Amino acid sequence: MLVDSFGRVATDLRVSLTDKCNLRCAYCMPPEGLDWLPKPELLTADEICRLVAIGVERLGITEIRYTGGEPLLRREIVDIVARTAALRPRPQISITSNGIGLARLAEPLAQAGLDRVNISLDTLDREAFIRLAHRDRLADVLSGLAAAEAAGLRPVKVNAVLMRDVNDHEAVRLLRFCLEQGYELRFIEQMPLDAQHGWRRENMVTADEILAILGAEFSLTPDDPGERGSAPAEVFLVDGGPARVGVIGSVTRPFCGACDRVRLTADGQIRNCLFATEESDLRGALRSGASDDELAERWVAAVRGKRAGHGIDDPSFLQPARPMSAIGG
Ligand code: 5AD
Ligand code: SF4
Repeated sequence: MLVDSFGRVATDLRVSLTDKCNLRCAYCMPPEGLDWLPKPELLTADEICRLVAIGVERLGITEIRYTGGEPLLRREIVDIVARTAALRPRPQISITSNGIGLARLAEPLAQAGLDRVNISLDTLDREAFIRLAHRDRLADVLSGLAAAEAAGLRPVKVNAVLMRDVNDHEAVRLLRFCLEQGYELRFIEQMPLDAQHGWRRENMVTADEILAILGAEFSLTPDDPGERGSAPAEVFLVDGGPARVGVIGSVTRPFCGACDRVRLTADGQIRNCLFATEESDLRGALRSGASDDELAERWVAAVRGKRAGHGIDDPSFLQPARPMSAIGG
């Protein structure tokens, strides 16, 4: 098992398939993009599948989430999902995507065994989308969402990050849209993970603010009170339910104490936390001939040293050297 010194057990593995992306969301990347990882440093599909198999078969991983960058940019994604679905015990398989390309890929991915999707959608306004993501792709995101729903990847979850004076006036509109379409919306507090290091606490729209904005339009009642478990979202029934909305207070309401996640970067490094300052190199070991047992041992050691929390409020907090797109959301 992947257990840390605080007794937390990692069962949820997030695998970044690429650090590249076809959008440039302001909370993530600068408009000009980043220096992408050189291809030889990326894990191959075979290497990814080998490590995922070790996680599932030996280390108690029960959930696999493929992320990026934008995971749909990785050509082998359908094959990787199919090979993941063939593992026993079969893990739950999901992706976190910006939705671009899902119009074409939702059906083949569902056929391959994908269970669920989380799609980022921060605005419904084309101009605002261009300002925020620096690409004119809102229509592709919306058609991707519809394709996911049609392919049965339900409940389709939508992630929104609100930024002050950019899209914070769209919270109610986003929720109405998701209610109409049957998508489950979750607002995520903006975290200091952007490559530009532009995060400022005063610009962060907090969970309290989001709940106040939504509470003025909808009646929100806690769903399953007291049962937050390891799920970071605090979930509310909207107008009595069954529709729900989630708020993820990553910064102001940290859930580190119940964290069950571990991450594998696109270049084969284990990170025990989004905000970890150290990584463990599995790629080097794998390419120099390590056995499955040796890789599993390294992985166990990497999780054991996980820190208690992200410490964003700590004066000594340091933003991780790698941005979200290289870590995996
Ligand atoms: N803060 C909060 N959420 C972020 N995401 C990307 N960068 C940040 C950030 N700095 C979200 C994206 C996507 C998921 C991978 O994480 O919107 O939904
Ligand atoms: Fe791309 Fe996701 Fe970063 Fe947006 S948040 S630029 S969609 S990786």
